[in-house]
Amino acid sequence: MDVIIAKNYEDMSRYTAKMIADFVRSKPNCVLGLATGSTPIGTYRELARMHREEGLDFSQVKTFNLDEYLGVGMERNKPYDLDQSYARFMYEELFRHINVQKRYTRVPNGLTTDPDHYCQWYEDEIKKAGGIDLQLLGIGGDGHWAFNEPGSSFSSRTRIEELTEQTLDDNYESFYKKAGISRKDMPHYAITMGIGTILEARNIIMMANGSKKANVIARSIEEPPTTQITASALQLHTGGVTIVLDEPAASLLKNTDRYQYLP
Ligand code: GLP
Repeated sequence: MDVIIAKNYEDMSRYTAKMIADFVRSKPNCVLGLATGSTPIGTYRELARMHREEGLDFSQVKTFNLDEYLGVGMERNKPYDLDQSYARFMYEELFRHINVQKRYTRVPNGLTTDPDHYCQWYEDEIKKAGGIDLQLLGIGGDGHWAFNEPGSSFSSRTRIEELTEQTLDDNYESFYKKAGISRKDMPHYAITMGIGTILEARNIIMMANGSKKANVIARSIEEPPTTQITASALQLHTGGVTIVLDEPAASLLKNTDRYQYLP
């Protein structure tokens, strides 16, 4: 496990984008697992810049997103701030800025009428694509990966998950409040890849920034893995794991001599 500590959000985003870009250059038809939330926005902007200015080519890349709120989907006629679907987020923050092919991008369909069947189909699609080569992840305020709330099994697969009060509060503050959508009208359920699904990715990059994440980061990296902090499953991963943090998110880590501080 490599832990990289950048001075600030910009450096963290640049470092992560370069890792992803190097990966795409070395395997142009790779399968990327992608995440939503405020954390990866800087990384996506940098990838878009690299596409624009350096010709970084996504034309053969396939993508699978981690999760989507249940009951919502991308609504093209709605303004972006009123459409809080993750499908719309991915389109606005990344897909429309790069040359990825639409038919190669998958975000779970929150409007499915048969969620159980759909979740199995999503798992099958990942397998059909050859599995995920590189999975990008953030971490929730309660330590979750994707929407695997505390108590999710480390062997869980893609499924419907009920969101905790803390996740609803966090995502309300970060996204829904600005859109003028009331907390009670937020979706309370989501489709999420499972921890078992995520652990099958060959490589993992987890990002976190800000002091609010310092506690769950320290628990994920330096304490025994627990399903109460589902991101701690990273310690069970058998491939390459890189954790990219800014200094505030790294501030409660103790084994600092084992980590790499970026100049
Ligand atoms: C949501 C997403 C997670 C993400 C988390 C953190 O819960 N489902 O995938 O990691 O938010 O979001 P942020 O980056 O805004 O802190």
